[in-house]
Amino acid sequence: MSLSVRLDGTGVSYGPRAALKGVTCGFPAGKVSAILGPNGSGKTTLMRAVADLEVPGSGSIAYLDATGPVLPGLALMRRMTLVSQRAVLFNTTVYNNIAYGLKARGLSAPAIKERVAEALDAGGLSHLAHARAGTLSGGEAQRAALVRAWALRPELLLLDEPTASMDPAGVTLAEGLIRRMRDEDGTTVVMVTHNLFQARRLADRVYLLYAGELVEHGDTGRMFGSPREELTRRFVSGEEVY
Ligand SMILES: Nc1ncnc2c1ncn2[C@@H]1O[C@H](COP(=O)(O)OP(=O)(O)OP(=O)(O)O)[C@@H](O)[C@H]1O
Ligand SMILES: [Mg+2]
Repeated sequence: MSLSVRLDGTGVSYGPRAALKGVTCGFPAGKVSAILGPNGSGKTTLMRAVADLEVPGSGSIAYLDATGPVLPGLALMRRMTLVSQRAVLFNTTVYNNIAYGLKARGLSAPAIKERVAEALDAGGLSHLAHARAGTLSGGEAQRAALVRAWALRPELLLLDEPTASMDPAGVTLAEGLIRRMRDEDGTTVVMVTHNLFQARRLADRVYLLYAGELVEHGDTGRMFGSPREELTRRFVSGEEVY
């Protein structure tokens, strides 16, 4: 089953600073949604709010599956995973990093072993299984964070600039994995990216944030091909928007 998300007038402020202002939109189940926007436009804030790490000061966020609304709580938290902008890995081996969440979910030892091996292989990290996470390069750490999330088979996967530090081969690998999750597992993916080409390649839906507001959202082809807002047109053609 996969989850969809609905934001209704959602606002998040840090003290007097409004980072997200009355955002209303949905992230459909089993699709890849890409959040675009300049630095400081509220993308990470939006992802953290959807991951239940920021409490909206206004509006609401609802989660739905095929049976209807899903109540907030631990059971819901276990169905979604956030890969944050700065890869957060535990201070242990890459193997243990991936195994940890699987143990917490009560998988058997042989199942964990198999799932971790598969994740290491998918991330091109098998040779680094026993390296400590702190010794990984930036791109390797991002690959480890991504396959660790994949190993959990979340129904809702939240990715904040997941390929920003990756080399071109890593980007191809990561995009292949994200497509597989959508197409094989029906995972709902919401991802932040600064890479317009990546959004075009990968996303079903595109959302443009600017100064905490949702400027426009729609199908990827339309957002790039015939945007309704001048700001969107400028942004998707790589022009200055500040
Ligand atoms: N913990 C915080 N305390 C105060 N202000 C914050 C905090 N986190 C973010 N902000 C502010 O909220 C605004 C949105 O930040 P956010 O991190 O969501 O932007 P972003 O779109 O993810 O940017 P980037 O592309 O640089 O990652 C920014 O002006 C930022 O300075
Ligand atoms: Mg950010």
